[in-house]
Amino acid sequence: MSLVVVSNRVARGKVNEPMTGGLAAALLPVVEKSGAIWVGSSGRVRHGAQKEPFAEIEALGAGALAMLDLPAAHYGGYYEGFANSALWPALHSRADLIRASQQDYLSYREVNAFMARALLRFKKPDAVFWIQDYHFLALGAELRDLGVTQPIGFFLHTPWPARAIIEGVPHHRELVEAMLAYDLIGFQTEDDRESFLGYVSCDLGLEVENGVITSRHGTSRIAVFPIGIDPEKFATQAAKAASHPDVSRLRRSLNGEKLAIGVDRLDYSKGLINRIEAFDRMWTLQPALQRTVSLLQIATPSRGAIEAYGNLQNELAKLVSDVNGRLGEVDWTPIRYLNKGFSQTVLAGLYRTAQVGVVTPLHDGMNLVAKEYVAAQNPADPGVLVLSKFAGAANELDTALLVNPHDIDGMARTIAIALSMPLTERRMRWEAMMTKLRAGTIQQWFADFVEALQETRLDKAEDKAESPSPVAEAPTLVPLRSVNTGARYH
Ligand code: G6P
Repeated sequence: MSLVVVSNRVARGKVNEPMTGGLAAALLPVVEKSGAIWVGSSGRVRHGAQKEPFAEIEALGAGALAMLDLPAAHYGGYYEGFANSALWPALHSRADLIRASQQDYLSYREVNAFMARALLRFKKPDAVFWIQDYHFLALGAELRDLGVTQPIGFFLHTPWPARAIIEGVPHHRELVEAMLAYDLIGFQTEDDRESFLGYVSCDLGLEVENGVITSRHGTSRIAVFPIGIDPEKFATQAAKAASHPDVSRLRRSLNGEKLAIGVDRLDYSKGLINRIEAFDRMWTLQPALQRTVSLLQIATPSRGAIEAYGNLQNELAKLVSDVNGRLGEVDWTPIRYLNKGFSQTVLAGLYRTAQVGVVTPLHDGMNLVAKEYVAAQNPADPGVLVLSKFAGAANELDTALLVNPHDIDGMARTIAIALSMPLTERRMRWEAMMTKLRAGTIQQWFADFVEALQETRLDKAEDKAESPSPVAEAPTLVPLRSVNTGARYH
């Protein structure tokens, strides 16, 4: 099998560089090991009639990383436009923020078609394509139009919202119909899967049976694959990072104070305003907690050219300076607020230094920061995770302190509880979470999806063999080299 993984953002194999977003950071170690070809955007654009779409192809572990310059005329409409100003807000249930022109939609479709043409280079008879995330909802359909008959799977890293919200996306029908060209569609949670199936049966009127949709493209299987991390590797990294200069400087600067940490892309789905308000409320309602704890909030700027993101950055800066100005002392800054990214290694060390991890998105597909915070803890003296019940991670990490991020008072109370939790309870909760993390690693996620994709195609090939209609070119199905422990998907 030659696996081709496609995502808009890709990562290079450097652990000491900051990485934006959970997707690229999560995929890097597994793609590296699998020997797959990872195809994505170079982040640069191409003008006019350049023939070769690939700007760079370089070795990545046992496989390769291939980066494309996307067409200049369509990049803005695709990335800042349809993907991040129509789909992203809708997928995170922010219909009020949907902004999309017809031109943005056309650019999105153009870029999907452009990527499909570029991928033909990797169309070996034994190729298996695995497309990632909302940037490429229509890529499977484009590949089929170009005659690709090999297995094509898709995984959505974000949530899938209620019908009424996705109906707010222009061309939603056309897009979801195009998605049904995928043989297998994976979601993070059962709720996402159910919302998607609900849309398909109610809005498209299609038949759904046991999670299999029948459409003009044939059949698509819809299943759940919660993405994980490599907890052992992260734990080792965290222990080692204790001596990293950034981490030891942070520890020294605390002067016996406790630390809470938040690490997010600067995005409205992350609930940053509510989180700062909750800390403000906690310090105001319980003045004894002033000077005893500070919040380190890392908010890495992202998609800054989009108005909603610029507005959020301004609003947050104002709120943080208001809280610090009002509550701060000459020797105490309540909120340490940083607009930059850190490497995975440094982050692991920062997580381990903090007694409380606050991960309180309004809505999140999974949220790997929650999992990383847990894995980074010192087993003898673990910190407490305060986690939004609207993050996909809450399904597995149900022994975290779960909060409703819209309830500022409730969050304020829960953070205070986390700060004073006795060691026995901290350890009990942490061990239960570690057990879950070990049971659902990123390696397992990767292997499960690819195995399920191959099985889905086998089932289809059998169905076709039984039916009298002509059989399409059957893909070569080779067992995976990586460890597989049976299907966890459902
Ligand atoms: C989320 C998305 C990813 C994306 C990442 C960073 O995690 O699901 O697809 O890569 O955010 O966003 P950016 O727009 O900076 O690539």
